[in-house]
Amino acid sequence: MRSVLKLAAAAAMLPGLALAADPRAGRALFQENCAPCHGATARGDGPMRDILSVAPADLTRLSEDGVFPMTDVVRRIDGRDMLLAHGGPMPLFGYILEDRSAVIDDPDGTPIFTSQAVLDIAAFLETVQE
Ligand code: HEC
Repeated sequence: MRSVLKLAAAAAMLPGLALAADPRAGRALFQENCAPCHGATARGDGPMRDILSVAPADLTRLSEDGVFPMTDVVRRIDGRDMLLAHGGPMPLFGYILEDRSAVIDDPDGTPIFTSQAVLDIAAFLETVQE
């Protein structure tokens, strides 16, 4: 038992390994990178809303069918699922992808590689679902 715990602790310190997502870190990243459009409470009412031709999505309603679509949200943040509003082929927040790597599983089991920062933001968004 003890050696298992030690192994887990050692694995947690290896760079590049997926750690648990941290919604508190995600909240701070959201306020910095996303709130100007999506609003401080993620309801789509940020100060830039009035100058955008497409309204920023209300991100508190991503779980409308009862499940938070974690991997879809990750793809929309990291730019794989391209949104013109996020800069299209030139993502506005590409630098958050430079954080250490993280992996989560798609519902079908496929590993999705992303960055810890993207995962943290998605975890924060999961906490604001209504
Ligand atoms: C320049 C303004 C702007 C910024 C900054 C921005 N977004 Fe968006 N975002 C939008 C707009 C506008 C849409 C709606 C796009 C559409 O409907 O085609 C959108 C859509 C989304 C969606 C898809 C919602 C859905 O219904 O599937 C997600 C998720 C999202 N944004 C997350 C984020 C996150 C997380 C950040 C910060 C890392 C961010 N956005 C930063 C403008 C922005």
